[in-house]
Amino acid sequence: MKVSKRVTGVEYAIRDIALYARKVAKEGKTITYLNIGDPVQYGFQPPDNVKEAMITAIKNGENYYTSSEGLPELRHAIAEKESAKGLSVSDDDVLITNGVSEAIDMIMASLVEEGDEVLLPGPYYPPYASYVRLYGGVPVEFAVNLDNSTPDIDDIRSKINSKTVAICIINPNNPTGVLFDEKYLKTLVEIANENNLYIICDEIYEKIVFDDEFVGIGKVSGDSPIILLNGFSKVHLMSGWRIGYIAFNNCKKLDLLRQSIPQLARVRISANLPVQHAALESLRGPQNYISEYVGELKKRRDYTIKRLDGMKGLRCSNPKGAFYAFPKIEDNKYASDKEFVIELLKTTGVLTVHGSGFGKKYGSDYFRLVFLPEISVLERALDKIEEFVA
Ligand SMILES: Cc1ncc(COP(=O)(O)O)c(C=O)c1O
Repeated sequence: MKVSKRVTGVEYAIRDIALYARKVAKEGKTITYLNIGDPVQYGFQPPDNVKEAMITAIKNGENYYTSSEGLPELRHAIAEKESAKGLSVSDDDVLITNGVSEAIDMIMASLVEEGDEVLLPGPYYPPYASYVRLYGGVPVEFAVNLDNSTPDIDDIRSKINSKTVAICIINPNNPTGVLFDEKYLKTLVEIANENNLYIICDEIYEKIVFDDEFVGIGKVSGDSPIILLNGFSKVHLMSGWRIGYIAFNNCKKLDLLRQSIPQLARVRISANLPVQHAALESLRGPQNYISEYVGELKKRRDYTIKRLDGMKGLRCSNPKGAFYAFPKIEDNKYASDKEFVIELLKTTGVLTVHGSGFGKKYGSDYFRLVFLPEISVLERALDKIEEFVA
């Protein structure tokens, strides 16, 4: 029996590659998983007060369908947070989702029609392209310099045409760790406004930065049509609980979208209610765990990048944020980056993700690994990678 043509374009390299690992594990090899960007799978945990908030909500009977837009207190806390970052957001401009993943789906469902183009930073987080394709659109990657975290403005301008509907910014980005500064954010907003484009900005890694200060899109937003996406999986360590949000900047051009997204939200009823209580606590409670966590990640980043960049045949830019290394395979003796990753897996048991899974144009000839495990685990994995590339 047939399935829709639409789904054939849907890929998620980060998890698709794990199917190969399952096969290799069956043959008896121990796998070191460096493919998934989930800090909670590597020993980090949400703080106890956040866990307690969820347990208390459940015990208090908060186990029902809640409003489709989300828990009012949580929407209020998020509106305060994003307003402090510079966006113009009231409680009504916030919609709680089952993770940023659901937010990306809702946004693309609302914006993209057959043949519409959406600009994405190359390489990009794969669901952006998958959902654009699912709704009949075309993802178009623009060039970004990974060494100095700058988007190629001429390239962006040359790729805008009558079919372009939106530009996506992922700051810091996955898989590259690129962090756009205020000047470039401002330029991107200006370009979007000149061309009547929506600006979709994903700030899920906002506090996971190592060298430079993070600047939110809010700082340069003015009254531009900005759709901000954020969530609790990375900074707040609540990945398995599935919660995120959309915040709309106050802009007349967003009026229609502001109606269509709640319509979609009503169809899927609501986000998980006990988790919304936990998310509220994670915003209101102590934040000191974040600096400890990011400080630990910085050590792991420094170690990983120094090792990778020192390996013959690899070159690795320094990620300014998030928790991914994205080395370039300088002289690949395999047919593709995917084959490199599969051979690496078969030979060493180290599971990484092929760069082309993050967009073929700019991701090919790279691979991605997380630097989330403890240094002793990273050391053993990097020793194996070093031996393999040698
Ligand atoms: C840039 C980016 N956005 C969104 C997500 C998914 O977020 P969530 O867990 O909130 O669905 C990820 C997960 O890796 C990501 O890297």
